[in-house]
Amino acid sequence: MSKKFSVNGTFKDSVNTVKFLTERKSFINNAQAVLPTRTDDFGVNKVAKSIHPKEQKLVISRIEEHKALAKSYYFKSDVAPLAYFKAGQYLTFKLEIGNAVVTRSYSIASSPASALRGEYQITVKRISDGFVSDYILDNWHVGDEVTAYAPEGNMTYNPLRDAENIVAIAGGSGITPFLSLARAIDQGDEDCTLTLLYGCRTSDEILFKAELDSLSEKNEKINVIYVLSHSDEEGYEKGFVGADIIKKYAPDENYSIFVCGPGGLYKFLETELPKLQKERKYIRFEVFSSGKKAEEAKEYSIKVINRGTETVIKASSSETVLCSFERAGIEVPARCHTGECGFCRSKLVSGKVYIPEGEDKRRIADMQFDFIHPCCSYPEGDLVIRIN
Ligand code: FES
Repeated sequence: MSKKFSVNGTFKDSVNTVKFLTERKSFINNAQAVLPTRTDDFGVNKVAKSIHPKEQKLVISRIEEHKALAKSYYFKSDVAPLAYFKAGQYLTFKLEIGNAVVTRSYSIASSPASALRGEYQITVKRISDGFVSDYILDNWHVGDEVTAYAPEGNMTYNPLRDAENIVAIAGGSGITPFLSLARAIDQGDEDCTLTLLYGCRTSDEILFKAELDSLSEKNEKINVIYVLSHSDEEGYEKGFVGADIIKKYAPDENYSIFVCGPGGLYKFLETELPKLQKERKYIRFEVFSSGKKAEEAKEYSIKVINRGTETVIKASSSETVLCSFERAGIEVPARCHTGECGFCRSKLVSGKVYIPEGEDKRRIADMQFDFIHPCCSYPEGDLVIRIN
């Protein structure tokens, strides 16, 4: 006795299934009879390596000068595509400056799609006493090869966690992750709306204004508002990006706040954001170290134990322990410089460190067993630290 079955679906589903089965059969027939013995030869490992390379060698292909003491660096690589990223992530560069081996992170300004074409863009602004930014601005030239790690960072849009309306607050060169997000939205790679509140002192300090205006004009998901703190020029909001301006421009009640900018912006928002009474999960910061509270710098020493060898280096109460390592040429794995990633985790064998409020992101077990993140720890006396 024959039975009849009915299948819900479309003709297209059947065609796709037949196509898939045929392709799979041909793939199996053409596969090597002997499995590769080197793990590098497995396709899945090749993909993993291209997404999470240990290091990337990048060549500076172009440098663009901005008015606001800043330059954009464009990088190419012979190995296209470059490691992919999400808008809002950063690249950490490894540099040798004199005897010092330092790492610094810069948000990626280009769109994620640019990585597939083998290009990244970052923007570096000159800041007072900017040890690394000054070095980059004065010494990086077109054609130079630089070393960067794979993109990292958590200030990215996640539809499972964030509201679909993003209110981004940028200060100065903190615009770069949001330029990347605006580009990604415009190219259809991110599905959220962006209300960008960009604070600068004067209109001369606004970076990428022409492109931001054009994105805002052509794409209804993007709205850019400039807020000037030191100028009365027409056509701009005046003052600082605080609760009132956020309420005025937020598309509705349902939005997430992303923040990226200098320390002063974070301090200001500490008192402004609570006025919005938003749940903490809807507020995300690109964290930068707020630095040690102002006081006269004191000189200390750090005994560094590294795989059995001991080195004594100078340290200052006004600089992070990681900075002292870097000045002494001691290489410690580091990425975020904000206490978040845990790459620089080291054992504090003896001594006392100061960790600014809000920057202690260690696990509870690490706190109990005296592990510290040197990137956000300041010496309060002579220290003994074991790295590795
Ligand atoms: S560099 Fe990320 S925690 Fe120190």
